[in-house]
Amino acid sequence: VFLQPVRHYSKKAAINHVLVIGGGLMGSGIAQITAAAGMKVTLVDQSQDVLKKAVSGIESSLGKVARKQFGEDKEKADKFVKTAVELIQTTTDAQQPAQFADLIIEAIVENLDTKKTLFTSLDKAASNHTIFTSNTSSLSITDIAAATKRQDRFGGLHFFSPVPMMKLVEVVRIEGTSDATFDALFDFAKKVGKVPVACKDTPGFIVNRLLVPYIMEAVRMLERGDASAEDIDTAMKLGAGYPMGPLELADFVGLDVCKMIIDGWHKNDKAQPLFFPSPMLNKLVGEGKLGRKSGSGFYDYKAQQAKQAK
Ligand code: 3HC
Repeated sequence: VFLQPVRHYSKKAAINHVLVIGGGLMGSGIAQITAAAGMKVTLVDQSQDVLKKAVSGIESSLGKVARKQFGEDKEKADKFVKTAVELIQTTTDAQQPAQFADLIIEAIVENLDTKKTLFTSLDKAASNHTIFTSNTSSLSITDIAAATKRQDRFGGLHFFSPVPMMKLVEVVRIEGTSDATFDALFDFAKKVGKVPVACKDTPGFIVNRLLVPYIMEAVRMLERGDASAEDIDTAMKLGAGYPMGPLELADFVGLDVCKMIIDGWHKNDKAQPLFFPSPMLNKLVGEGKLGRKSGSGFYDYKAQQAKQAK
């Protein structure tokens, strides 16, 4: 007797309107790819200035994508950008559009209390069918979801930077996540052109649990004086085939982000040497050297940025 695999079919929710909360680099990237896939997007942030900056970043990134996709055909490229941009609305009020959203993706500051306060209010404002997700890099989805009464319609959708380029999405399942929600999130990731992987709600999920300790080991290697920053990065690019070396990548992700992740994990697991803080990383962050976004980190970007601004 051959056992047939049991195929599970769950009733999937249609996702047509997505509410993205947080107009930073991750939130605007998520809004961009969602609109480029033909879905309506409402992008929310606390200030109009951030939203304006987000939309201009989205337009410029869509321009790059369009050039790659349509080459010399400027008419098609312009139409692609215009169609996607027109699908994006911006607002400073998350409550009102929550009523009409099928999916909410939160990409705000990595602070558990701030996220919980946001989700508690969204839980009241949103429609019953709305699926809630967080793009958190390092917090527990279970802890965030505890602020709501919709455990079955809650999960994690973790994207990677730069969102328009990186193909992966981690779909995080908590104990209460229903099959219908999980399937809808998996399908959404595919619809926006990504490859989804399923993850349990463990610290760092898959990628960051491996990547952040690796970056921290590179920082410790530099701290010990075992090799220069340039040599560590060259070694990992040419010896292991990584597109960026670990210190370049730390500057790209943000040294404040790396510190916040490692400090959070260290607090919860003091005995784990992979999660030990680094005096060098702490010093750089203390000096406001946060990587590319602040003009310096392990490397200096000021000359490069001044050249690009010309
Ligand atoms: N939007 C659209 N297109 C973009 C883009 C963006 N934001 N950024 C880069 N591109 C395009 C460029 O236009 C270029 O297109 P072309 O091939 O037609 O010229 C192409 O991507 C390559 O870009 P560059 O030539 O500028 O540089 P690279 O070849 O080095 O590629 C990179 C850039 C894709 C960022 C590559 O270096 C890379 O993959 N780096 C590793 C990134 C990574 O590991 N990200 C994960 C970080 S961890 C994370 O996000 C998790 C979080 O929770 C902390």
